[in-house]
Amino acid sequence: MALKLLLVDPDSDWLKSATEHLQKNMYQVKSVTNGKDAQIAMYNEKFFAVVIGYMVQNHSAMQVLKFIKTNYSAQRVILIMEDENPFKSGETSIDKLIKIGATEVLVKPFTFEALSSVLEGHQTLGDLVSSLPQKEGTSEEVEVQMADENFISIKIDEFYSSKAVLFDIFIKLNSGRYVKILHAGDTFSKERLDKYKVEKKVEFLFFHKSDRRKYLQFTNYITNKIVKNVSISGTHKVDMLKTVSEKFSQEVLEAGLKPQVVQQGKEICTNVYHFIEKQDDLYKLLRNFHEADPSSFTHAFSVTLFASSIIKQFEWQSRATIENTALACMFHDIGKSKLPPELLNKRPADFSDQERALYQQHPQLGAELVEGHILINHAVKQIILQHHEYYNGTGFPGALKNSRILTLANIVALANDFVHIVIDKKVTPVEALKTMLVDKPLVARYNSAIFEKFIRVFADPGKLVKENILPSNSKIVPNRKAS
Ligand SMILES: [Fe+2]
Ligand SMILES: [Fe+2]
Repeated sequence: MALKLLLVDPDSDWLKSATEHLQKNMYQVKSVTNGKDAQIAMYNEKFFAVVIGYMVQNHSAMQVLKFIKTNYSAQRVILIMEDENPFKSGETSIDKLIKIGATEVLVKPFTFEALSSVLEGHQTLGDLVSSLPQKEGTSEEVEVQMADENFISIKIDEFYSSKAVLFDIFIKLNSGRYVKILHAGDTFSKERLDKYKVEKKVEFLFFHKSDRRKYLQFTNYITNKIVKNVSISGTHKVDMLKTVSEKFSQEVLEAGLKPQVVQQGKEICTNVYHFIEKQDDLYKLLRNFHEADPSSFTHAFSVTLFASSIIKQFEWQSRATIENTALACMFHDIGKSKLPPELLNKRPADFSDQERALYQQHPQLGAELVEGHILINHAVKQIILQHHEYYNGTGFPGALKNSRILTLANIVALANDFVHIVIDKKVTPVEALKTMLVDKPLVARYNSAIFEKFIRVFADPGKLVKENILPSNSKIVPNRKAS
């Protein structure tokens, strides 16, 4: 069943072209040229979204927005501005328009593809499924030729599907040649997938980059079920979380911090929280954690996993602290996207003074990127800003000391340094911990209470209590209280 849209704009030519484009994208479109007809249409029918032009008259767009807010407060409304003049003249602002009831504001000129992608961003999983073309069974295989950079790969064992396949799935023959083995809307067939795996030794499936958001949405949904399922192994759960985080980091880099993208990041963090809370033998998994394919995309997840595990050791831990810190970890190095790529290919040890100064701006650049984002709260922004500050004042950008550094930021700094040691020295987490323990200047970077909890991440909690290996007044490192 196609999703219904209501288009409201005084320009009939624009309405006609927009309708044609959106119908091709599986929407059912109703269009009207004035506000009064728009209200009547909403009274009679339910719409997935209303797309309304700012210049609409009789009733004006602002009147319609108020009408929607009063009567249909859950209605998604995309407000189209003719140009930026009303913002420049101070007549209105995006904040004001959102307060009145716009879900999102688009300023002309924009392509119809951009409009489609905004609409798609608001689809829930249920909307996605119900907008699929109706089919029974499975379509024939089709060979396609398309450049590799248009595709994303996923391990066949980590692919999950709803009953109806949400997007086209391919296998790769060789560079630039793919076979579409499942079409969007097909009934998912596990047998068919197993056949490719067993008979044709297929290890990876591929899908279009443009379907990555749908992938994230569905995978987050299914991961939420899986992390709570005790019969599924912890290793498998970590792999799923890692893969979805990696695809999320790629989406952020390419699509930016759109609300629908950030929302997926928040869902990953909720899943990380549930995983950490429910996994009794977490310490075993973390001891054996190894990163087969370290990249900047998987780095964010590794830091998330260890920082969240450290927080779990504290009595004051809560869902909010873990989720906020996890989100900060997901974005902690986002400021690097503003640095010249050649700088990022260099090792920090090889930086010139000028390059180092530039590199050290990345926490500030990251904090600026997320500044003002309604879905990212102040605590997350502060952690991003302080993720390289050290307890002894040797960090950057502020060379902050002691309690001027947020405890959560110091935890992220520790998790970040630790993950770098694991990857750079190609050692196990326990070996990395041993390296750290004998490196006094390194240990001095962190609040001692945090470092002590960090050691506990790798210890069997049962034995800790039983054998009293690490009593609470342990003097492994001088005892200072984490605030
Ligand atoms: Fe960083
Ligand atoms: Fe980092």
